[in-house]
Amino acid sequence: MDDQFPPRTHEPLDLDEIWDLSDALADRLEEGGDEVTFALLEEVARAQDSDLTHLYVAAGLDPDTVWKREYPVAFVVCTGSCQAWGSIEALEGLITERSSRVSAGRPAFDIVTTACLDVCLPSPPYAVSLGPEGKAVHPGVTRQQVMEAVATRVDGE
Ligand code: FES
Repeated sequence: MDDQFPPRTHEPLDLDEIWDLSDALADRLEEGGDEVTFALLEEVARAQDSDLTHLYVAAGLDPDTVWKREYPVAFVVCTGSCQAWGSIEALEGLITERSSRVSAGRPAFDIVTTACLDVCLPSPPYAVSLGPEGKAVHPGVTRQQVMEAVATRVDGE
C-alpha cells in the first residue's frame, strides 16, 4: 500500500516532543476551559518555549480535542502522516496569515489540525476548508495554494 504514496519530501516532527506538548496542553486544559483556541495554543507554546506549529500538531493528535470556532471559515490541516509531504508549511502559512489579518482587523479564519482527514491519497498533504459555502478538499496543499484558498474562501476572490 505504501508504494501508492508519492516520495516523502519532509521530515516529520519528533513524536516524543509532540507527546510532551500534548501533555502540557492537557494539563493547561484541566486548569480551566475545555476548548482549544489560537490564543490558548500560543500561551502553551510560549510556556513550553516551543513553536506554535508544534502545539497545533500536538492538539491535532487527540481526536477528542474540542476546537473553539471563532470565524465562519476554518481550515483543517492534516498534521499526521501528511507532515511527510509538507503539511507543516501550509500550517505555518495559515498561522502567519491569520495573525496578520487579526492585527489588521481583516476577516480571518480558524485553524484546526487533525491526525488524518481520511483522504490521504493520491496527493498528500491534505487540508480541508469549511465555511458557509460548504466544504472543499485541498489536495497536495502548499503554502502558496493554501493562501490562494484563504483568498477564495475568506475574501470571496
Ligand atoms: S494522513 Fe493526511 S489525510 Fe490521512
